[in-house]
Amino acid sequence: MKAVRIHSYGGPEVLKYEDAPEPTPGKGEVLVKVYAAGVNPVDWKVREGYLKQAINYPLPLILGWDVAGIVESIGTGVTKFKKGDEIFGKPDLTRNGAYAEYIVVNESDLALKPKSKDFVHSAAVPVTSLTAWQSLFDVAKLEAGQKILIHAAAGGVGSFAVQFAKWKGAYVIGTASKNNLEWLKSIGADETIDYNVVKFEDVVHDMDVVLDTIGGETQNRSWKVLKKGGILVSTVGQPSEKEAEKFGVRCGVGNAVSNPEQLNQIANLIDEGKVNPLVETILPLSEARRAHEISQSGHTRGKSVLKVI
Ligand SMILES: NC(=O)c1ccc[n+]([C@@H]2O[C@H](COP(=O)([O-])OP(=O)(O)OC[C@H]3O[C@@H](n4cnc5c(N)ncnc54)[C@H](OP(=O)(O)O)[C@@H]3O)[C@@H](O)[C@H]2O)c1
Repeated sequence: MKAVRIHSYGGPEVLKYEDAPEPTPGKGEVLVKVYAAGVNPVDWKVREGYLKQAINYPLPLILGWDVAGIVESIGTGVTKFKKGDEIFGKPDLTRNGAYAEYIVVNESDLALKPKSKDFVHSAAVPVTSLTAWQSLFDVAKLEAGQKILIHAAAGGVGSFAVQFAKWKGAYVIGTASKNNLEWLKSIGADETIDYNVVKFEDVVHDMDVVLDTIGGETQNRSWKVLKKGGILVSTVGQPSEKEAEKFGVRCGVGNAVSNPEQLNQIANLIDEGKVNPLVETILPLSEARRAHEISQSGHTRGKSVLKVI
Protein backbone atom coordinates (compact mmCIF):
# COMPACT_ATOMS: atom_id res chain seq x y z
CA MET A 1 0.00 0.00 0.00
CA LYS A 2 1.02 3.66 -0.29
CA ALA A 3 1.88 5.41 2.99
CA VAL A 4 3.71 8.46 4.29
CA ARG A 5 6.47 7.30 6.65
CA ILE A 6 9.48 8.67 8.47
CA HIS A 7 12.69 6.65 8.67
CA SER A 8 14.37 9.18 10.96
CA TYR A 9 13.28 12.22 12.98
CA GLY A 10 13.63 15.67 11.43
CA GLY A 11 12.04 18.41 9.33
CA PRO A 12 9.22 18.01 6.77
CA GLU A 13 11.75 16.55 4.30
CA VAL A 14 11.90 13.26 6.29
CA LEU A 15 8.28 12.49 5.23
CA LYS A 16 8.45 9.82 2.50
CA TYR A 17 5.47 8.91 0.30
CA GLU A 18 6.32 5.29 -0.48
CA ASP A 19 5.25 1.64 -0.49
CA ALA A 20 4.71 0.03 2.92
CA PRO A 21 3.40 -3.38 4.01
CA GLU A 22 -0.37 -3.62 4.44
CA PRO A 23 -1.16 -4.37 8.10
CA THR A 24 -3.27 -7.29 9.36
CA PRO A 25 -5.80 -6.87 12.20
CA GLY A 26 -5.19 -8.88 15.38
CA LYS A 27 -7.51 -9.63 18.27
CA GLY A 28 -9.90 -6.74 18.96
CA GLU A 29 -8.57 -4.82 15.96
CA VAL A 30 -10.14 -3.50 12.77
CA LEU A 31 -8.49 -3.05 9.36
CA VAL A 32 -9.69 0.31 8.02
CA LYS A 33 -9.47 1.41 4.39
CA VAL A 34 -8.44 5.01 4.95
CA TYR A 35 -10.40 7.65 3.03
CA ALA A 36 -9.02 10.67 4.88
CA ALA A 37 -6.50 11.46 7.62
CA GLY A 38 -6.66 14.61 9.75
CA VAL A 39 -3.47 16.56 10.39
CA ASN A 40 -2.65 17.68 13.94
CA PRO A 41 0.30 19.49 15.55
CA VAL A 42 1.20 16.20 17.30
CA ASP A 43 2.04 14.77 13.86
CA TRP A 44 4.92 17.16 13.29
CA LYS A 45 5.90 16.99 16.97
CA VAL A 46 6.36 13.22 16.57
CA ARG A 47 8.15 13.79 13.24
CA GLU A 48 10.57 16.21 14.90
CA GLY A 49 11.27 13.64 17.64
CA TYR A 50 9.73 15.65 20.51
CA LEU A 51 7.92 12.55 21.81
CA LYS A 52 10.71 10.00 21.36
CA GLN A 53 11.62 10.01 25.06
CA ALA A 54 8.02 9.23 26.00
CA ILE A 55 7.13 6.79 23.20
CA ASN A 56 9.53 4.20 21.81
CA TYR A 57 8.43 4.40 18.17
CA PRO A 58 9.53 1.70 15.77
CA LEU A 59 10.97 3.31 12.62
CA PRO A 60 9.90 3.52 9.85
CA LEU A 61 6.73 5.01 11.30
CA ILE A 62 3.48 6.01 9.60
CA LEU A 63 2.21 9.32 11.04
CA GLY A 64 -1.35 10.64 11.49
CA TRP A 65 -3.72 9.87 14.34
CA ASP A 66 -7.09 11.06 13.02
CA VAL A 67 -8.85 8.70 10.65
CA ALA A 68 -12.07 8.33 8.65
CA GLY A 69 -12.69 5.37 6.38
CA ILE A 70 -14.47 2.07 5.83
CA VAL A 71 -13.98 -1.18 7.73
CA GLU A 72 -12.23 -3.58 5.36
CA SER A 73 -11.97 -6.57 7.71
CA ILE A 74 -12.07 -7.38 11.43
CA GLY A 75 -9.84 -9.39 13.76
CA THR A 76 -11.07 -12.01 16.21
CA GLY A 77 -13.22 -10.81 19.07
CA VAL A 78 -14.40 -7.62 17.34
CA THR A 79 -18.07 -7.11 18.13
CA LYS A 80 -18.91 -3.48 17.42
CA PHE A 81 -17.99 -3.25 13.73
CA LYS A 82 -18.38 -5.20 10.50
CA LYS A 83 -16.98 -4.94 6.98
CA GLY A 84 -18.41 -1.90 5.21
CA ASP A 85 -19.06 0.27 8.31
CA GLU A 86 -18.15 3.92 7.81
CA ILE A 87 -16.08 4.89 10.83
CA PHE A 88 -13.93 7.63 12.31
CA GLY A 89 -11.65 7.73 15.33
CA LYS A 90 -8.39 8.48 17.06
CA PRO A 91 -5.96 5.59 16.54
CA ASP A 92 -3.39 4.73 19.21
CA LEU A 93 -0.63 7.38 19.17
CA THR A 94 2.00 4.76 20.01
CA ARG A 95 1.41 2.78 16.78
CA ASN A 96 1.44 3.38 13.01
CA GLY A 97 -0.97 6.15 12.03
CA ALA A 98 -3.42 6.93 9.22
CA TYR A 99 -1.26 8.59 6.51
CA ALA A 100 -1.75 5.40 4.50
CA GLU A 101 -4.22 3.43 2.40
CA TYR A 102 -4.88 1.06 5.31
CA ILE A 103 -4.53 1.21 9.09
CA VAL A 104 -5.17 -1.27 11.89
CA VAL A 105 -7.07 0.35 14.77
CA ASN A 106 -8.31 -0.99 18.13
CA GLU A 107 -12.08 -1.26 17.94
CA SER A 108 -12.23 0.74 21.19
CA ASP A 109 -10.75 3.76 19.35
CA LEU A 110 -13.51 3.93 16.72
CA ALA A 111 -17.11 5.06 16.28
CA LEU A 112 -19.49 5.36 13.32
CA LYS A 113 -18.74 8.60 11.48
CA PRO A 114 -21.28 11.46 11.27
CA LYS A 115 -23.83 10.50 8.59
CA SER A 116 -24.10 14.05 7.28
CA LYS A 117 -20.37 14.54 6.62
CA ASP A 118 -17.99 13.13 4.03
CA PHE A 119 -14.81 11.34 5.04
CA VAL A 120 -12.64 14.46 4.78
CA HIS A 121 -14.79 16.39 7.25
CA SER A 122 -15.17 13.34 9.51
CA ALA A 123 -11.37 12.95 9.66
CA ALA A 124 -11.17 16.53 10.95
CA VAL A 125 -13.13 15.61 14.07
CA PRO A 126 -11.65 13.02 16.50
CA VAL A 127 -8.46 14.44 18.08
CA THR A 128 -9.44 18.10 18.28
CA SER A 129 -13.10 17.56 19.21
CA LEU A 130 -12.23 15.03 21.95
CA THR A 131 -9.61 17.44 23.33
CA ALA A 132 -12.09 20.31 23.38
CA TRP A 133 -14.93 18.16 24.79
CA GLN A 134 -12.83 16.63 27.56
CA SER A 135 -11.20 19.99 28.46
CA LEU A 136 -14.51 21.83 28.67
CA PHE A 137 -16.85 19.21 30.08
CA ASP A 138 -14.74 16.53 31.86
CA VAL A 139 -12.05 18.79 33.35
CA ALA A 140 -13.58 22.30 33.60
CA LYS A 141 -17.22 21.11 34.00
CA LEU A 142 -18.36 24.10 31.95
CA GLU A 143 -22.00 24.99 32.51
CA ALA A 144 -24.62 27.19 30.86
CA GLY A 145 -24.23 30.85 31.81
CA GLN A 146 -20.52 30.56 32.63
CA LYS A 147 -17.88 32.66 30.88
CA ILE A 148 -14.97 31.10 29.03
CA LEU A 149 -11.87 32.57 27.39
CA ILE A 150 -10.61 30.34 24.56
CA HIS A 151 -7.08 30.99 23.31
CA ALA A 152 -6.27 30.14 19.68
CA ALA A 153 -10.02 29.94 19.13
CA ALA A 154 -9.58 29.68 15.34
CA GLY A 155 -7.40 26.54 15.57
CA GLY A 156 -8.41 22.90 15.49
CA VAL A 157 -9.11 22.54 19.22
CA GLY A 158 -10.26 26.14 19.63
CA SER A 159 -12.86 26.06 16.86
CA PHE A 160 -14.51 22.97 18.38
CA ALA A 161 -14.25 24.51 21.86
CA VAL A 162 -16.06 27.67 20.69
CA GLN A 163 -18.89 25.62 19.19
CA PHE A 164 -19.21 23.23 22.17
CA ALA A 165 -19.20 26.10 24.66
CA LYS A 166 -21.92 27.95 22.72
CA TRP A 167 -23.98 24.78 22.42
CA LYS A 168 -23.71 24.40 26.21
CA GLY A 169 -24.95 27.98 26.70
CA ALA A 170 -21.72 29.61 27.87
CA TYR A 171 -20.51 33.12 27.06
CA VAL A 172 -17.49 32.75 24.76
CA ILE A 173 -14.53 35.07 24.27
CA GLY A 174 -11.95 33.92 21.72
CA THR A 175 -8.48 35.15 20.82
CA ALA A 176 -7.16 35.13 17.25
CA SER A 177 -5.39 37.38 14.77
CA LYS A 178 -7.25 40.00 12.72
CA ASN A 179 -8.06 37.76 9.73
CA ASN A 180 -9.92 35.27 11.90
CA LEU A 181 -12.05 37.59 14.04
CA GLU A 182 -15.15 37.75 11.81
CA TRP A 183 -14.92 34.03 11.18
CA LEU A 184 -14.80 33.39 14.95
CA LYS A 185 -18.03 35.35 15.37
CA SER A 186 -19.60 33.30 12.58
CA ILE A 187 -18.92 30.05 14.49
CA GLY A 188 -20.38 31.42 17.71
CA ALA A 189 -17.88 33.58 19.65
CA ASP A 190 -19.67 36.35 21.57
CA GLU A 191 -16.53 38.49 21.72
CA THR A 192 -13.19 38.32 19.93
CA ILE A 193 -9.77 39.70 20.80
CA ASP A 194 -7.00 40.35 18.30
CA TYR A 195 -4.04 39.08 20.33
CA ASN A 196 -1.61 41.14 18.23
CA VAL A 197 -3.30 44.41 19.16
CA VAL A 198 -4.93 43.96 22.57
CA LYS A 199 -3.53 42.35 25.74
CA PHE A 200 -6.36 40.02 26.64
CA GLU A 201 -5.71 40.48 30.37
CA ASP A 202 -6.47 44.21 29.98
CA VAL A 203 -10.01 43.55 28.77
CA VAL A 204 -11.03 40.14 30.16
CA HIS A 205 -11.95 39.55 33.82
CA ASP A 206 -13.87 37.11 36.00
CA MET A 207 -13.74 34.11 33.68
CA ASP A 208 -15.04 30.80 34.98
CA VAL A 209 -12.79 28.93 32.55
CA VAL A 210 -9.73 29.61 30.41
CA LEU A 211 -8.84 27.10 27.70
CA ASP A 212 -5.14 27.46 26.94
CA THR A 213 -3.78 25.77 23.81
CA ILE A 214 -0.68 27.97 23.60
CA GLY A 215 1.20 27.75 26.91
CA GLY A 216 4.20 29.94 27.87
CA GLU A 217 3.52 33.67 28.20
CA THR A 218 -0.12 33.24 27.17
CA GLN A 219 -0.66 30.81 30.04
CA ASN A 220 1.29 32.97 32.52
CA ARG A 221 -0.90 35.98 31.70
CA SER A 222 -4.11 33.94 31.90
CA TRP A 223 -4.27 33.31 35.65
CA LYS A 224 -5.35 36.85 36.46
CA VAL A 225 -8.39 36.80 34.15
CA LEU A 226 -10.02 33.97 36.13
CA LYS A 227 -12.46 34.65 38.92
CA LYS A 228 -11.69 33.08 42.30
CA GLY A 229 -12.31 29.35 42.07
CA GLY A 230 -12.19 29.43 38.25
CA ILE A 231 -10.15 26.92 36.27
CA LEU A 232 -7.41 27.06 33.65
CA VAL A 233 -7.26 23.99 31.42
CA SER A 234 -4.23 23.55 29.18
CA THR A 235 -3.74 21.20 26.23
CA VAL A 236 0.01 21.77 26.19
CA GLY A 237 1.08 20.37 29.56
CA GLN A 238 0.29 20.47 33.25
CA PRO A 239 -0.05 24.08 34.45
CA SER A 240 1.64 25.05 37.73
CA GLU A 241 -0.45 24.13 40.79
CA LYS A 242 1.60 26.69 42.70
CA GLU A 243 0.55 29.50 40.34
CA ALA A 244 -3.06 28.35 40.53
CA GLU A 245 -2.94 28.48 44.33
CA LYS A 246 -1.38 31.95 44.26
CA PHE A 247 -4.35 33.25 42.25
CA GLY A 248 -6.99 31.28 44.18
CA VAL A 249 -7.95 29.30 41.10
CA ARG A 250 -7.68 25.70 39.85
CA CYS A 251 -5.93 24.10 36.91
CA GLY A 252 -6.09 20.95 34.83
CA VAL A 253 -4.89 19.26 31.65
CA GLY A 254 -6.93 18.56 28.53
CA ASN A 255 -5.45 15.45 26.93
CA ALA A 256 -7.30 13.73 24.10
CA VAL A 257 -8.32 10.27 25.28
CA SER A 258 -10.16 7.84 22.98
CA ASN A 259 -13.81 7.74 23.91
CA PRO A 260 -16.29 6.22 21.44
CA GLU A 261 -19.31 7.31 23.51
CA GLN A 262 -18.16 10.93 23.31
CA LEU A 263 -17.45 10.52 19.58
CA ASN A 264 -21.03 9.26 19.17
CA GLN A 265 -22.36 12.31 21.03
CA ILE A 266 -20.22 14.62 18.90
CA ALA A 267 -21.32 12.85 15.68
CA ASN A 268 -24.95 13.38 16.75
CA LEU A 269 -24.34 17.10 17.38
CA ILE A 270 -22.75 17.34 13.92
CA ASP A 271 -25.66 15.48 12.28
CA GLU A 272 -28.13 17.78 14.09
CA GLY A 273 -26.26 20.77 12.61
CA LYS A 274 -25.26 22.12 16.04
CA VAL A 275 -21.51 21.71 15.49
CA ASN A 276 -19.49 21.76 12.30
CA PRO A 277 -16.01 20.40 11.54
CA LEU A 278 -14.19 23.25 9.78
CA VAL A 279 -11.65 22.25 7.15
CA GLU A 280 -9.47 24.95 5.62
CA THR A 281 -7.07 22.81 3.56
CA ILE A 282 -7.52 19.50 1.74
CA LEU A 283 -4.42 17.91 0.22
CA PRO A 284 -3.67 14.51 -1.34
CA LEU A 285 -1.76 12.01 0.81
CA SER A 286 1.34 12.55 -1.34
CA GLU A 287 1.42 16.18 -0.13
CA ALA A 288 1.76 15.43 3.59
CA ARG A 289 4.89 17.53 3.63
CA ARG A 290 2.96 20.66 2.62
CA ALA A 291 0.31 19.83 5.24
CA HIS A 292 3.01 19.69 7.92
CA GLU A 293 4.48 23.00 6.83
CA ILE A 294 1.03 24.58 7.14
CA SER A 295 0.40 23.04 10.57
CA GLN A 296 3.83 23.99 11.83
CA SER A 297 3.29 27.62 10.78
CA GLY A 298 0.88 27.79 13.74
CA HIS A 299 -1.88 29.57 11.81
CA THR A 300 -4.23 26.84 10.61
CA ARG A 301 -7.87 27.98 10.61
CA GLY A 302 -9.92 24.93 11.64
CA LYS A 303 -8.22 21.84 10.21
CA SER A 304 -6.06 20.47 7.40
CA VAL A 305 -6.93 17.02 6.08
CA LEU A 306 -5.16 14.57 3.77
CA LYS A 307 -7.56 12.98 1.27
CA VAL A 308 -6.48 9.42 0.59
CA ILE A 309 -9.37 8.34 -1.68
N1 LIG B 1 -2.72 17.05 24.94
C1 LIG B 1 -3.45 16.64 23.92
O1 LIG B 1 -3.97 15.52 23.89
C2 LIG B 1 -3.62 17.58 22.76
C3 LIG B 1 -4.63 17.33 21.83
C4 LIG B 1 -4.82 18.24 20.79
C5 LIG B 1 -3.96 19.35 20.69
N2 LIG B 1 -2.96 19.52 21.59
C6 LIG B 1 -2.04 20.65 21.47
O2 LIG B 1 -2.81 21.85 21.58
C7 LIG B 1 -2.22 22.86 20.75
C8 LIG B 1 -3.30 23.41 19.83
O3 LIG B 1 -3.73 22.40 18.92
P1 LIG B 1 -4.59 22.79 17.64
O4 LIG B 1 -4.84 21.55 16.88
O5 LIG B 1 -5.74 23.63 18.05
O6 LIG B 1 -3.52 23.71 16.87
P2 LIG B 1 -3.68 24.54 15.55
O7 LIG B 1 -4.96 24.21 14.88
O8 LIG B 1 -2.44 24.37 14.76
O9 LIG B 1 -3.73 26.06 16.08
C9 LIG B 1 -3.59 27.07 15.16
C10 LIG B 1 -4.27 28.33 15.65
O10 LIG B 1 -3.49 28.93 16.68
C11 LIG B 1 -3.77 30.33 16.63
N3 LIG B 1 -2.71 31.05 17.33
C12 LIG B 1 -1.38 30.98 17.13
N4 LIG B 1 -0.73 31.76 18.02
C13 LIG B 1 -1.69 32.35 18.81
C14 LIG B 1 -1.66 33.25 19.91
N5 LIG B 1 -0.51 33.72 20.41
N6 LIG B 1 -2.85 33.59 20.49
C15 LIG B 1 -4.02 33.12 20.01
N7 LIG B 1 -4.11 32.27 18.95
C16 LIG B 1 -2.95 31.90 18.37
C17 LIG B 1 -3.85 30.62 15.16
O11 LIG B 1 -4.69 31.74 14.96
P3 LIG B 1 -4.17 32.96 14.06
O12 LIG B 1 -3.83 32.37 12.71
O13 LIG B 1 -5.31 33.89 14.05
O14 LIG B 1 -2.92 33.48 14.75
C18 LIG B 1 -4.44 29.34 14.56
O15 LIG B 1 -5.81 29.46 14.25
C19 LIG B 1 -1.06 22.18 20.03
O16 LIG B 1 0.14 22.45 20.71
C20 LIG B 1 -1.37 20.71 20.11
O17 LIG B 1 -0.25 19.87 20.03
C21 LIG B 1 -2.78 18.66 22.62
